[in-house]
Order: sequence, then structure tokens, then C-alpha cells
Amino acid sequence: MPRIRVAALADVPPGRMLMVATERGKLVIYNCGGAIYASEQGCPHLGAALDEGVLVGTEVTCPWHHWSFDVTTGECTTNPLAPKSLAIFPVATEGGDIWVDTP
Ligand code: FES
Repeated sequence: MPRIRVAALADVPPGRMLMVATERGKLVIYNCGGAIYASEQGCPHLGAALDEGVLVGTEVTCPWHHWSFDVTTGECTTNPLAPKSLAIFPVATEGGDIWVDTP
């Protein structure tokens, strides 16, 4: 997995999320109380942009049909029959920057 710099840490304050367009596709960066996570942008259900949803704690809720996902694991927390989980990517923070290992 190539590691790419996606944003400055200061661009994603605690409790916020940020969509970043990379050469490997669009990702969402989450700041959950200072812990940083990254996922694919598209909801595993029908592809809505998760950065247009709501982030509470470590859970993001999709703006279209309100499925929620744990951004630490990708697990769908509202629909046990969800066929797919959210793709989560490893994150590192170094020198005030956020780096993601992309597929
Ligand atoms: S597109 Fe996200 S829950 Fe349907």
C-alpha cells in the first residue's frame, strides 16, 4: 500500500471530517477526539458521500438512509444485514501531517 500525505492535522479539528481527493480515489479523514481515522468516501450501501453525513464520537451516519459505521473498524452499527462494511485505511500522523496507506 502506498503511503500518501492527505492533509495537515490542523485541517481536521476534533469532531470534524474532511474529504480528500487523492490519486487513489476520494477518502474521508475523521478526527475522533484527537484520534485520526480514514475510510473510503462512498457509503457501502448505495455510495452516498459519508463526509456529508454526521460524525458523533467514532460513528459516522450516512446522509441518505442513515446507516451508521464505526470508523475504527468499518463495521455497520445499524444494519446487521449490511452486505459490506466500510473500507478503513491505516493512518499515521507525523510532523503535523496526516498520512494514509491507500490500496
Ligand atoms: S447510501 Fe448510505 S445508507 Fe444508503
